[in-house]
Amino acid sequence: MRKPLYDRQAAEFCQSRELAKRWVEDDETRVQLILEHLGDAASILDIGCGWGMMLAEVAKARERRTVWLAGIDESPHRLQDLRVTCPCALGAVARAPYLPFRDRSFDAVITSQMLHEVELFGVELFGRPEETSLTVREIARVTRPGGRYLLLDHLDPGHGTVDVSLDARGRELLTRFADAFRYRPINPAKLGPDRYRLSKRDLQDFVTKIWSLGSPMETMEMEETHCVFTRNQVKTLLESAGFDLVRWIRFEPIRTDLSHHSIALVRGQSWRRKFLAVARRGRTRGRW
Ligand SMILES: C[S@@+](CC[C@H](N)C(=O)[O-])C[C@H]1O[C@@H](n2cnc3c(N)ncnc32)[C@H](O)[C@@H]1O
Repeated sequence: MRKPLYDRQAAEFCQSRELAKRWVEDDETRVQLILEHLGDAASILDIGCGWGMMLAEVAKARERRTVWLAGIDESPHRLQDLRVTCPCALGAVARAPYLPFRDRSFDAVITSQMLHEVELFGVELFGRPEETSLTVREIARVTRPGGRYLLLDHLDPGHGTVDVSLDARGRELLTRFADAFRYRPINPAKLGPDRYRLSKRDLQDFVTKIWSLGSPMETMEMEETHCVFTRNQVKTLLESAGFDLVRWIRFEPIRTDLSHHSIALVRGQSWRRKFLAVARRGRTRGRW
């Protein structure tokens, strides 16, 4: 079995970053979207729950209603503060394709920015392309018929290029990023002293990963992409496990990330870089 993606150093770095980000607008949107679409679920599992930020928000929103909350993560270091963040949640170290729960245990299952790590590390680095579909089937197994699966993750912006202008700091970071990124070659075309033409995918990975340069997360972030799923891929994945896709919401405009880094979009339009898929588990369990 492979080692968890997050060792102690990466887990500690990530947690302090997530704590600092906690109340920024885009993070709040993510939490709000999940809370809004949980419906009246009373038993909820968060897979890849880390230190339990989402579960704590769910517990707070449920106030005095009795709910059964559970979180699993493959990294014991990521999970170690769950008991402090969300004391009412049951926590377990486990890997997504092998959930330690009985069939039909939950009204709702959440994966928030987790499935892309299974997809990428399964397919690209460890040669296990079946991990993603195994995970979604496992989620279907533990979800009660009629229950829901909230899949929130990074969206593939598709083909196409845009032109951007960058200040001196942005130009320096782009050079560092192009040198460090291992997932695919990054080839920005220089159009002028501060102007570059980039594919939408390269720009999305650049602005959403530059925070990791020089940090304990750099190696991992440079090995994977944030341009992962298309709507069709997600629909097929869900349907093959017995879920129906009932809502598809795109959110987080790339222009917000660009403005954080003083990058101006001089040709092309902004796009939304994340999605929430709301899926309902059918009465039968799909085709496998
Ligand atoms: C990017 S973090 C997202 C954390 C949190 N869900 C959020 O939305 O902020 C991904 C989490 O998924 C966990 N993870 C990745 N692959 C996993 C797997 N195969 N099984 C269980 N957890 C996994 C990682 O340890 C990490 O805590």
